[in-house]
Amino acid sequence: MTKVLTNRFDLKGGACDIDVYLKTGGYQALARTFKDFTPDQVIEEVKKSALRGRGGAGFPTGMKWGFVPKESKRPKYVVCNADESEPGTGKDRDLMRYDPHLLIEGMIIAAYALGARDNYIYIRGEYWYIKEILEKAIAQAYERGYLGKNVLGSGFECNLYVHPGAGAYICGEETALLESLEGKRGHPRLKPPFPAVVGLYGGPTIVNNVETLAAVPWIIQNGGEAYKALGTEKSGGTKLFTVSGHVNRPGNYEVAMGYPLMSMVNNECGGIPGGRKLKAIIPGGSSVPIITAEEAEKVNLDYESMGTVGSMLGSGGVIVMDETVDIFETTMNVTHFYKHESCGWCTPCREGTRWLFKVFERMHRYEGRPGDVELLYDLADKILGKSFCPLGDAAAMPVQSAIQKFRDDFDRRIKSTLVQINTAAD
Ligand SMILES: Cc1cc2nc3c(=O)[nH]c(=O)nc-3n(C[C@H](O)[C@H](O)[C@H](O)COP(=O)(O)O)c2cc1C
Ligand code: SF4
Repeated sequence: MTKVLTNRFDLKGGACDIDVYLKTGGYQALARTFKDFTPDQVIEEVKKSALRGRGGAGFPTGMKWGFVPKESKRPKYVVCNADESEPGTGKDRDLMRYDPHLLIEGMIIAAYALGARDNYIYIRGEYWYIKEILEKAIAQAYERGYLGKNVLGSGFECNLYVHPGAGAYICGEETALLESLEGKRGHPRLKPPFPAVVGLYGGPTIVNNVETLAAVPWIIQNGGEAYKALGTEKSGGTKLFTVSGHVNRPGNYEVAMGYPLMSMVNNECGGIPGGRKLKAIIPGGSSVPIITAEEAEKVNLDYESMGTVGSMLGSGGVIVMDETVDIFETTMNVTHFYKHESCGWCTPCREGTRWLFKVFERMHRYEGRPGDVELLYDLADKILGKSFCPLGDAAAMPVQSAIQKFRDDFDRRIKSTLVQINTAAD
């Protein structure tokens, strides 16, 4: 399989040093960009590639870049979203720690396409050791003329800064991220206007995920059509998935878009330990609806196929659960996360996630009441589509899908409660 993102992962120590990166074809796409492409042509090439944003929503990258107004009185910015806080996801971490220059090169090309002089990598605070790797790599790029006042003698000025977050999941949401980058509390902003038009410090801003930007050098070197051909018609290229849970070889795997989910579980990840049976998979990080073992057999790793089983590709965090797992427990755990991470800005999410967790807690203590499963579903309904930002939906969807698909695991809590009460009465 053609590797777009993980080519240098197998090198001893990765390609953190610029000389290793250069020896293995690094910065050639940037040189080619200045030689052969106008900024508009870069955007066209990315449009042709069918690259879709790898941060979770899967928005077409070239289209997003096309929204940036050509003339703007305010400076433009490219901001890389390296907040990577979605439970089950650790792909951006490996991209940055094994191949930091790939991201830097992708960002410089994006900055050239959009006319952005000052650009930022917003990295989650817990990745402090990766911040150091990035800063070393950026310093090397300045020394060799890939960053700075006159990049490769082109006359284009490009600067890059790394800014750490402080551990809030909501700061991965692009507008909360921009607030945080501006030094304010990380609450999401009302959209529209979208960041491409009014973003950082009010200037047009492209926010892209690490993996999205890291795919850009390959697209420039090999052409948008070639990238698209690696994947499916609507989901071009390859994607990096983080597989965790009940598999023999958990880890990050790059596969072509459209690769069967169960081939990933059985081939790349060596199947499920102990010969146990698969029960469920959360295919795109904890925010997306859960799928059953039967659905997992039918589905491929691309945006459209995931939609056919009512789920999403999300951030590419594949969480595999075998038959020993109680989906009630899993869902309660996920709900605890969203309760904790709700930023408190809007009522449905702030109050709803707490109510959800309260009901989960009493069911967990075997004090669930008849009607509690319906109550959980209804509470999730009051959050879904009624919250200020998609975190509310991310809290509601896993609950509703788990109840729809694994109702027995929830009912058992109520039945057990009744059995316990009856036994006590006897
Ligand atoms: C609550 C929440 C958390 C998010 N966390 C991340 C994150 O950690 N990393 C990321 O790239 N995108 C995250 N996103 C998506 C971003 O808002 C945005 O869509 C993305 O960075 C755009 O980049 P892309 O087009 O390359 O996917 C999050 C969204 C929400 C609603
Ligand atoms: S949905 Fe949740 S995270 Fe988003 S603004 Fe409302 S309270 Fe904050």
